[in-house]
Amino acid sequence: MINRICFLSILLGLFFVSISAGLQQKKPSPVVMERGKKVYEKECLGCHQADGAGTPRMNPPLIKTKWVIGPKEQLIKVVMKGITDPLTIGDDEYYNPMPAHTYMTDQDISDVLTYVRNSFGNKASAVTVNDVKAVRAKLK
Ligand code: HEC
Repeated sequence: MINRICFLSILLGLFFVSISAGLQQKKPSPVVMERGKKVYEKECLGCHQADGAGTPRMNPPLIKTKWVIGPKEQLIKVVMKGITDPLTIGDDEYYNPMPAHTYMTDQDISDVLTYVRNSFGNKASAVTVNDVKAVRAKLK
């Protein structure tokens, strides 16, 4: 009886260890987040601000918008091509254009978007270099 309890608790332990390992994999690695933060500070912070809240009626927030946490392809396009059409987010309208960032490397775009999708209260899947490559190939 004792042996059986022992065995079962080991199984249960293994079960929880593997579950938490699985959960951890979904979080981007701290290395990628750190790289992404640096790119953000260089390429995005000036307009979208350190906390991702933007500046009212000039630069929209990057907090849980449909572009930020929505489909990756659309988000990669926004960064590469920029946006000139006015946007409405919440109660505010934004008329300033967002500049294109085609000059950024695939690595920098994937790092910065993984960072943005997992900062400022956002939680969304990482953007890989291959995701960016695929969108770039279609834009050409
Ligand atoms: C020169 C200022 C500027 C820079 C630099 C800039 N943006 Fe923007 N961004 C804007 C503006 C303005 C808009 C709204 C465009 C519009 O309304 O047509 C916007 C829109 C967006 C949107 C879609 C709307 C939203 O809020 O979800 C995303 C996503 C975004 N930017 C991400 C980024 C990322 C990531 C970077 C850095 C790689 C970046 N931007 C750099 C000004 C900027």
